[in-house]
Amino acid sequence: MNISKKSITSIFKPYLNVKDGYKGGKPIVAAKEGQKVYKLSSNENPVGTSPKAIDAIKKHLTNLHIYPDTTDIHLRESLVTYYDKQLNIDQFLCAASGSELIDILIRGFIREEDEVIISTPCFVPYRMFSQWSGAKVVDVPLTDKEYELDVNGILKAINSKTRIVFLTSPNNPTGTYIPKVTLENLIKEIPSNIIVVFDEVYWHFADAPDYVKAINYLEKYPNIIAINSFSKTYGLAALRVGYAYTSIEIANYLRQICKPFLISKLSLEGAIAALKDTTFIAETIRVVKTERKFIQNEFDKLNINYTPSQANFFLLDPPINDIKFTELMRNEGIAVRPVKNFGAAGKVRISIGNREANKAMLHALARILGKLTN
Ligand SMILES: Cc1ncc(COP(=O)(O)O)c(C=O)c1O
Repeated sequence: MNISKKSITSIFKPYLNVKDGYKGGKPIVAAKEGQKVYKLSSNENPVGTSPKAIDAIKKHLTNLHIYPDTTDIHLRESLVTYYDKQLNIDQFLCAASGSELIDILIRGFIREEDEVIISTPCFVPYRMFSQWSGAKVVDVPLTDKEYELDVNGILKAINSKTRIVFLTSPNNPTGTYIPKVTLENLIKEIPSNIIVVFDEVYWHFADAPDYVKAINYLEKYPNIIAINSFSKTYGLAALRVGYAYTSIEIANYLRQICKPFLISKLSLEGAIAALKDTTFIAETIRVVKTERKFIQNEFDKLNINYTPSQANFFLLDPPINDIKFTELMRNEGIAVRPVKNFGAAGKVRISIGNREANKAMLHALARILGKLTN
């Protein structure tokens, strides 16, 4: 049978034709032969991977022909310990990355025409996955310069079709956080039949005195879902594993739409070991905070515009076009990320690396700025 292209495309869902999708950091290619390239484009762990996780993975390499556990139960047991038994095992839900958890909860709650509230600049998958479900995405942008949450704007945007409000703290790509008072003022006004997603994948790096985590609010607001990832502090980005915690009712509801064998055996074992590697976790936090201060000082000396960060990256306002700036940095061996598709046109995100990478980045930046003023 000869099927025309038109009849095929007529069955495509129009809302799946998402432009400007999230593509992640590009693979690293050196601009010149033999050049060392520093990847500061995907907010990865500057220390590397938990050695305990690597050992655990190696131990399980011989049994790859056996399916993993059908459930995430052992990882959830480890999470209960990690959270000092403040949460019940049934409040956790694990999946093959934080991004996948975002997809699962959208699939669980969104019907076509429902509304989802995001505040740009923010992590692209909130918008993208919502659109994949046929939702209308309502953007209530963060304020202009300080990137604060527009609490009144969000409350005004809420209507009978609103299903999910996305909050991120610390936020990607701005590195800003939601202060306790702001969060409390907002969540107390959000109707309980709306899901509040509190994405806290960078929480270990936040040290502002009024930084708060979702766990403090779960009892009062069972409509909160916290998103966490093993890609950042635990250095397991390649394994793709993350977890959420929420009320038992929501976790058990979403569990029903998790595919069996969702998380690979190596990811499960790596994540369980990484949670116990307190030395590695502490070292990661120490390096990020030390390097953050170091970079901030150097940025000040270079007189470059940036947003103070509570995460393991900085949002920079380069004095030249973002794409040109990214290209010049790439020529110097530094991979950074323009974040127009996050909603921050003209800005560039630079991850915090180890001291060697940060010095190389600052050196490249100084050279580029120097050339501009000469
Ligand atoms: C704000 C935010 N949420 C969630 C994620 C998802 O992380 P992953 O899918 O690697 O677990 C990321 C990753 O960069 C992020 O920046």
